[in-house]
Amino acid sequence: MLSKHGIFERHTWLLSIGILIVVAIGGLVEIIPLFYIKSTIEKVEGMRPYTPLELTGRDIYIREGCYVCHSQMIRSLRDEVERYGHYSLAAESMYDHPFQWGSKRTGPDLARVGGKYSNSWHLAHMTNPRSVVPESIMPGYPWLAERKLDPEEMAEKLKTLAIVGVPYTDEMIANAAADLEAQSNPEADGVEAVATRYPKAVVGDFDGKPGEVTELDAMIAYLQMLGTLVDFTKFDAAGPNLR
Ligand code: HEC
Repeated sequence: MLSKHGIFERHTWLLSIGILIVVAIGGLVEIIPLFYIKSTIEKVEGMRPYTPLELTGRDIYIREGCYVCHSQMIRSLRDEVERYGHYSLAAESMYDHPFQWGSKRTGPDLARVGGKYSNSWHLAHMTNPRSVVPESIMPGYPWLAERKLDPEEMAEKLKTLAIVGVPYTDEMIANAAADLEAQSNPEADGVEAVATRYPKAVVGDFDGKPGEVTELDAMIAYLQMLGTLVDFTKFDAAGPNLR
């Protein structure tokens, strides 16, 4: 058997073809199973699609280029976990199109910023970061409070994401405009419906302008939910199937 190996070692072309065949077998063994499993992302309890208001906040986050200075992925390294909390799970960005992981951190990672500050802190910080963090180099975004949202656009946004696999139900799509308004107005009738359709949705008059749904409402609603959906006191990293 070993002496036959000499044939390969003496003929470069034969050796190349041999390498190609062996590497191809290795590649197929890795790739073929991927066609037969439904998802490579482990399902995690608590994950739900974004509410229309959060989703709009996310769109504004992308439009304004917040990702240029902020990442949204906590690495599984000790310094990261101690600073930001549990490392990010693949499932936490499964409904993100596109995801906002990133590696550039001029400002801190935002993957778990939800609930860290009050709504009024965010309102002040987004308007002028220096008003709450004197040494901050983050630019202010005061115009977000002036720009109103169009609730009629929401259903189309949800429908588009449903096409790429985000599980928005017909009910969510039909109520998209109403949910957008209810989430930014704690006095509204639809508040409970939002919470039933989207568990843990934070309802509030984020921009301090009752009756008006602005881009700032959307931005703060988005920031306040980041990293809050999975309950890490119950989450088991080993997974139920691995024990
Ligand atoms: C030029 C870089 C830069 C850009 C662009 C930027 N930020 Fe920041 N951000 C920072 C820096 C630096 C800090 C830390 C100082 C502070 O809190 O202001 C920060 C802090 C924050 C914090 C507080 C995080 C924490 O845990 O304390 C939030 C929330 C935030 N930014 C949101 C945003 C959003 C939303 C956008 C886009 C609308 C944005 N940032 C754009 C640099 C940036």
